[in-house]
Amino acid sequence: MDLVLFGPPGAGKGTQAGRLCEAASVVHVSTGDIFRRHLRSGTELGLLASSYMSAGKLVPDQVVFDIVASRLGEPDAGAGALFDGFPRTVAQAELLEAWLCLRGRRLDLVVNLVVDDGVVVGRLSGRRACVSCGATYHVDFAPAGRPGVCDRCGAEVIQRPDDAEETVRRRLAVYHAETAPVLAWLRARCAVVDVPADLPVDAVGDAVLQALRRA
Ligand code: AP5
Repeated sequence: MDLVLFGPPGAGKGTQAGRLCEAASVVHVSTGDIFRRHLRSGTELGLLASSYMSAGKLVPDQVVFDIVASRLGEPDAGAGALFDGFPRTVAQAELLEAWLCLRGRRLDLVVNLVVDDGVVVGRLSGRRACVSCGATYHVDFAPAGRPGVCDRCGAEVIQRPDDAEETVRRRLAVYHAETAPVLAWLRARCAVVDVPADLPVDAVGDAVLQALRRA
């Protein structure tokens, strides 16, 4: 099964991905997480991606697709994937569709997390992330047990550089201009379920799992 978790920055895609992957028995493919892992390892790809991410811009389509195709080629991805933060342009969606089609696969479900820009700005300004394992917290809604320390691995928890207010506004503008149109492309080709995402985390999670059960 191949799924997309769609929505603007801060909609809660990363927060909901774990439960959805477990329920669908698929791997989590988050392009943002892959780029951040490369950056932590100091690879050329990480440095290239970082120059776009820190400016709130999209990484070029072919760079993105190459890392997705490489991840999909790993043995654990044979049964399907949950795409998080991908596709973000119609060109990326077309590349993915062609890749899946060649292997007799298709996108089975898109879960679209619907949330206003005002909510997103509040969430991202309070988000904190572990520098080592990438675990995500929120200063009000999901704080770490000890401030500044990751519950999962004990490393430092910081604000992501692209969560600075000005960069968040840029990311939102890019989302509305370049990524939101992908939704119409997806609606014309596969099942899309809209889930209100301005509810508490567990309520959003229940609605996401319900969408999967009905797929
Ligand atoms: P990426 O890492 O994909 O960022 P994003 O899509 O902007 O999404 P976020 O990670 O910011 O938010 P999220 O929806 O996962 O929310 P989260 O669960 O963390 O991409 C980063 C950058 O990489 C891009 O800007 C671009 O430069 C590049 N990039 C990545 N993919 C690309 C692609 N395909 N093409 C080109 N470039 C690409 O939640 C946010 C906060 O809210 C957390 O603190 C959380 O605790 C809290 N929260 C979550 N749900 C709730 C809730 N229901 N109630 C209260 N708080 C909540």
